[in-house]
Amino acid sequence: MAAHLSPCSSSSASFTPSSFKNKTTHFPKFITLIREGHSSRWVSQIRPRNRFQLKSSNGHPLNALSFHGDGNSVGQEQFEPRGKEGTFPVLDSKNVGSKLSITVVGASGDLAKKKIFPALFALYYEDCLPEDFIVFGFARTKMTDEELRNMISRTLTCRIDKRANCEDKMDQFLKRCFYHSGLYNSEENFAELDIKLKEKEAGRKSNRLFYLSIPPNIFVDVVRCASLRASSENGWTRVIVEKPFGRNSESSAELTRCLKQYLAEDQIFRIDHYLGKELVENLSVLRFSNLVFEPVWSRNYIRNVQLIFSEDFGTEGRGGYFDKYGIIRDIMQNHLLQILALFAMETPVSLDAEDIRNEKVKVLRSMRPLQLEDVVVGQYKGHSKGGKSFPAYIDDPTVPNDSLTPTFAAAALFIDNARWDGVPFLMKAGKALHTKRAEIRVQFRHVPGNLYKRNFGTDLDKATNELVLRVQPDEAIYLKINNKVPGLGMRLDRSNLNLLYSARYPREIPDAYERLLLDAIEGERRLFIRSDELDAAWSLFTPLLNELEQKKIVPELYPYGSRGPVGPHYLAAKHNVRWGDLGDEDS
Ligand code: BG6
Repeated sequence: MAAHLSPCSSSSASFTPSSFKNKTTHFPKFITLIREGHSSRWVSQIRPRNRFQLKSSNGHPLNALSFHGDGNSVGQEQFEPRGKEGTFPVLDSKNVGSKLSITVVGASGDLAKKKIFPALFALYYEDCLPEDFIVFGFARTKMTDEELRNMISRTLTCRIDKRANCEDKMDQFLKRCFYHSGLYNSEENFAELDIKLKEKEAGRKSNRLFYLSIPPNIFVDVVRCASLRASSENGWTRVIVEKPFGRNSESSAELTRCLKQYLAEDQIFRIDHYLGKELVENLSVLRFSNLVFEPVWSRNYIRNVQLIFSEDFGTEGRGGYFDKYGIIRDIMQNHLLQILALFAMETPVSLDAEDIRNEKVKVLRSMRPLQLEDVVVGQYKGHSKGGKSFPAYIDDPTVPNDSLTPTFAAAALFIDNARWDGVPFLMKAGKALHTKRAEIRVQFRHVPGNLYKRNFGTDLDKATNELVLRVQPDEAIYLKINNKVPGLGMRLDRSNLNLLYSARYPREIPDAYERLLLDAIEGERRLFIRSDELDAAWSLFTPLLNELEQKKIVPELYPYGSRGPVGPHYLAAKHNVRWGDLGDEDS
């Protein structure tokens, strides 16, 4: 809603967009096969990325010049962090000798402390940041550099903290962190920041990344001040923004329009952190680099697809924010829909960001806007269990006690194209449920004329294959198959072909923010949302959101810590679907 945005140009009369719009560096990627003697390797001509390294099943790079034959135990894969020995360099030659500054705007906020600084440190530890970089915190709070460092150091207990030399690396990282206090709408304060940045840059080419870890109502102010007063004069300037991108089509379009007064589209990096999650990134690899999946990836074989998100805690401490948005805007319209788009898109022409995003937009634009009769909303109520009581959503002091904001929703979506005609895509997202989990479930059709159907009795549903991609926790990909129980008889059971990441890849998985920050630094836009994707996403949800609000639809209550309301079961049944997450924890 416009009320959530600041006016685009409150004090920007003298602004000339071209003054910084042309500062963005483009890094088109071309991957080429080079033959060397008997071996061949794939290299990117411009900005090589080990991300696209091909590996054999024993973990050895198939495309590396040489590799070591030791180290990996059979069945266990080692990560090869970007920037370490054996991987490609992080930066292209154009950026050698340049200085990278990363300004975290809203540095004293929760997201910055819990996610952004730890992710930057992890990247530094892994040698993924360019040699010459600095980090600036910017916020209203008065703080010295030293105080910022103390604040950051308290939350750097990230995944790195048990590794060798962590303390030394942390000290070195903190020495590169500085602070500037200022108002978010003060061009003058950003001009002061610019002076400090220039001092550190010492006349070298500078590339500047701004991470906006701030509430959406001040996005535009900050972008205006930063772009007018603190843009790089001789390198690129990029801005990372994170949802909420408006509340509906109109407010989102207004935000985009305002941002584009100061930034070119390719300077805006809209984060959806689910796109940075390992399993979500792997979705395309699974589909497009395995022969067995793509041929069955259509209505001919797939009966339904389920995208499930659940959290085992409520809105604790975030009720004020959440009540303006609700679960549909918080999770479905972005995280789950992005996964759906990646899942359902046609094969892109290449791995180039524009090719991938073109395909995602096409899928989104082929979808039917959500209908109220295909949506169920819920809200958690208080509950006591084992002598402990859990609050209702409306017990949150920042939430009005007559709030109708959904903390749970389930929906059936449809893609009206040749590949997916008639296949229900079911989404379910909720807070304060019995478990924390995010997964993609693909239920396949029945085996026609199944010779073994007597073994399944009348419930043929039990005999269908199901592919599950568990995004979190315990990342895994497993396929449910029908299998003969060993023995002289002929008894079948359902077993899992299971790729459990913790068993196969023993090292920890980088946080989504690490991947996304690194991509923004490298100018890789594949995992960021383009404005037309955002428009298409809002077009699907806006009519429904309006209707829910206008008709004041009352959410179905469900107890805190339960499996949610019963409505989703009727919704699923209506579409001849059985939720895949109803069984035990490993189902
Ligand atoms: C955020 C939502 O985008 O994602 C939160 O605003 C939610 O409400 C969070 O808790 C979940 O992210 P993750 O990575 O913890 O699953």
